[in-house]
Amino acid sequence: MSTGRPLQLAVLISGRGSNMAAIARACAAGEIDARVRLVISERAGVAGLDTARALGLETRTIAWSGATERLRFERALERALADARADLIVLAGFMRILSQEFVEARIGRILNIHPSLLPLYRGLHTHRRVLAAGERVHGASVHFVTAELDGGPVILQSRVAVLPDDTEATLSARVQTTEHIIYPRVIGWLADGRLAWRGERPWLDGKPLAVPLVEDFDVSRES
Ligand code: GRF
Repeated sequence: MSTGRPLQLAVLISGRGSNMAAIARACAAGEIDARVRLVISERAGVAGLDTARALGLETRTIAWSGATERLRFERALERALADARADLIVLAGFMRILSQEFVEARIGRILNIHPSLLPLYRGLHTHRRVLAAGERVHGASVHFVTAELDGGPVILQSRVAVLPDDTEATLSARVQTTEHIIYPRVIGWLADGRLAWRGERPWLDGKPLAVPLVEDFDVSRES
């Protein structure tokens, strides 16, 4: 997605916004050739909006209050994306499901991060379900968004060990630490033109990405 200028990002959030902040910091530090042009929340008053403003980012709230709201939301979102001249939509803890039409019109231009080793544990409460199942490893996945929920091609996964005394809180904190590393990294690959969507699949460094890249992280509980 080489545009001859920093990749312009629109980051969609619903809550805390720690991934949004990690991405914005990577942009500001010049670690990736991208710029957070706009942060959009589908809920007013969430912590991520305050964080975004504190980072000097432009913010918008486009409220989405019920199942019938999707069309109205997406129309307003389309206008905001056009105003921001956004190249890439970055879903970062965005808790709503975009329509098939919206997603299919932007294949290869929407990324998401999901807190599991996809295709395992799609959906909600992944950390709780991983602990209940007695898994030994867990992690997060950065993937292109397709109309299938949490089903688009995965680009990069972080993998962490599940510790015997892990709770939902300790495990999710450890996984999130890795999210803040892998998400900016994938955006950087797109910005540099190393990663692209071509012929209905991701390509990395000139080759189709048949299986996700996996990186093991040894993150201490305190981090
Ligand atoms: C992250 O764990 C992400 O994997 C999931 O939602 C969470 C968002 O956290 N999609 P934050 O809002 O970025 O802090």
